[in-house]
Amino acid sequence: MWNWPRRCSCSRERLARFVDRVTLIEGKFLSCPLEGRFEVLVAVGLFDHIADPMQFLTRMRSLCAPHASLVASFSAWTPPKGPLRRLRYAYVNRCPIYDYTAGGLDQLFAQAGFERLELRPGRAGLLAWARA
Ligand SMILES: C[S@@+](CC[C@H](N)C(=O)[O-])C[C@H]1O[C@@H](n2cnc3c(N)ncnc32)[C@H](O)[C@@H]1O
Repeated sequence: MWNWPRRCSCSRERLARFVDRVTLIEGKFLSCPLEGRFEVLVAVGLFDHIADPMQFLTRMRSLCAPHASLVASFSAWTPPKGPLRRLRYAYVNRCPIYDYTAGGLDQLFAQAGFERLELRPGRAGLLAWARA
């Protein structure tokens, strides 16, 4: 995973002042133990780098409390950002990057078991709000 140690130390620093209210769990999302169900799940900037989004959405759905919300961003190929992002991530930073379409996301979320999906176009992709 791209720059994992730096990302983790950045999260630790940012969350330090909420230490009495926040639990930071560091690990691979698909394999780390997570207990309980959650009302809100947020995945911003994650799916851009995920080769198999179905596995992630399925685990996220399994962690949802009844009627929970998942908010997630998805990169999409838009000119001129598409080629520039590909150049920056894939070739300069050597970090894989994946693009999504509204139709593809409709299918993915439905297959993962989400009840409802709203998609909003953003500057570099799509913002999804899904209900369990
Ligand atoms: C582009 S960063 C976005 C970070 C943050 N959400 C933000 O918006 O600033 C992508 C993040 O996804 C994390 N990530 C990628 N694959 C992961 C995995 N399998 N399990 C947990 N985190 C992962 C990376 O460590 C990184 O912190």
